[in-house]
Amino acid sequence: MIPVTDLARLHAGIRPEIDAAARRVLDRNWFILGPEVEQFELAFASACGTRFAVGCASGTDAITLTLRALGIGPGDEVILPALTAAPTAGGVVAAGAVPVFADVDAVTRTMDPASVEAHMTPRTRALLPVHLYGRPADMAALTEIAEHHGLLLVEDAAQAHGARWQGRPAGSLAVAGCFSFYPTKNLGALGDGGAVTVDDPALAGRLQRLRNHGQSARYRHEEHSANSRLDDLQAAFLSAKLPHLERWNAERRAQAVRYQALLAGAPLRLPPPDDATCQSCWHLFVVESDEREALRARLAEAGVATDLHYPTPVHLQPAYAGYGKGPGSLPVAERLAATVLSLPLFPGMTEDEQEQVARAVLQVPAR
Ligand SMILES: Cc1ncc(COP(=O)(O)O)c(C=O)c1O
Repeated sequence: MIPVTDLARLHAGIRPEIDAAARRVLDRNWFILGPEVEQFELAFASACGTRFAVGCASGTDAITLTLRALGIGPGDEVILPALTAAPTAGGVVAAGAVPVFADVDAVTRTMDPASVEAHMTPRTRALLPVHLYGRPADMAALTEIAEHHGLLLVEDAAQAHGARWQGRPAGSLAVAGCFSFYPTKNLGALGDGGAVTVDDPALAGRLQRLRNHGQSARYRHEEHSANSRLDDLQAAFLSAKLPHLERWNAERRAQAVRYQALLAGAPLRLPPPDDATCQSCWHLFVVESDEREALRARLAEAGVATDLHYPTPVHLQPAYAGYGKGPGSLPVAERLAATVLSLPLFPGMTEDEQEQVARAVLQVPAR
């Protein structure tokens, strides 16, 4: 079976570096908020073009901590796209704020600026676009809306490590960038992890406090918070992987270009290609098919695994439906949820495998 992604292949290529990272942490005997976290935070901030990165326990926590650090909480509304991983909304709710779902653009699949404007109320405090599948949202239009209405702009960059918008890296395009290091992300830990990238030292300081029980110094708790620390072992693994991120992303990009050519004749809608403004990091290669279930079954039969990102838009998830306006309210997100299909794409995938996927999609028998 050709998998959607293959971490075993990825890790086999850098196994000595991963082993060395684990050994280093054990030898040093410092496991929480130690030198490995500090070093990784510096390197990640530099890769994202920001002054600071603050490690935390997950991408969801990165969102929650950021909103809390910005003073967003009960009664405040945060506008986010309906087509995203449910934790985007979960992070908002955990901060005590109200998620307000906007529709997405039919071509880019990221938050539609016109829909954002249609969902604004006097309680709107922040916009939380998602760089879905690795493609930066329309940050020019969203920045303009945020500035015009005095709103905070926060990136959900959980899928966008190394993506670029107008030449600038994801994570540096707003007040804060929220990253996940879930193992299958373009930069993944070997467990859970997350980070927030920021330029403002005061915001970085508040995030550092909030991730660690609200402590400003040892045993000095300034405000109530929880434990959302990044541990040294995960930071060491991330430091081992970060130097390879650009190469892995280049491989993903080349595979995306290749898919565009191989699948040009298929009865599918393909993802928008990169252009001068917007370079995806191709976290996922997502096509759209009106016959998705049949196509998915055919691919499985041909030994090609696929996945759905996401089969249900968040405003129709039982957990979050109470914040939305029900079926039919966000038609583009709803149509995409019914038609999207993620094809295999990952560093180490061979040209043969890509051709096999394309043949199965096009229903061309193997030679
Ligand atoms: C777009 C998006 N936002 C937020 C998250 C949450 O990240 P985590 O699983 O690290 O909490 C994820 C990953 O699941 C994601 O893909």
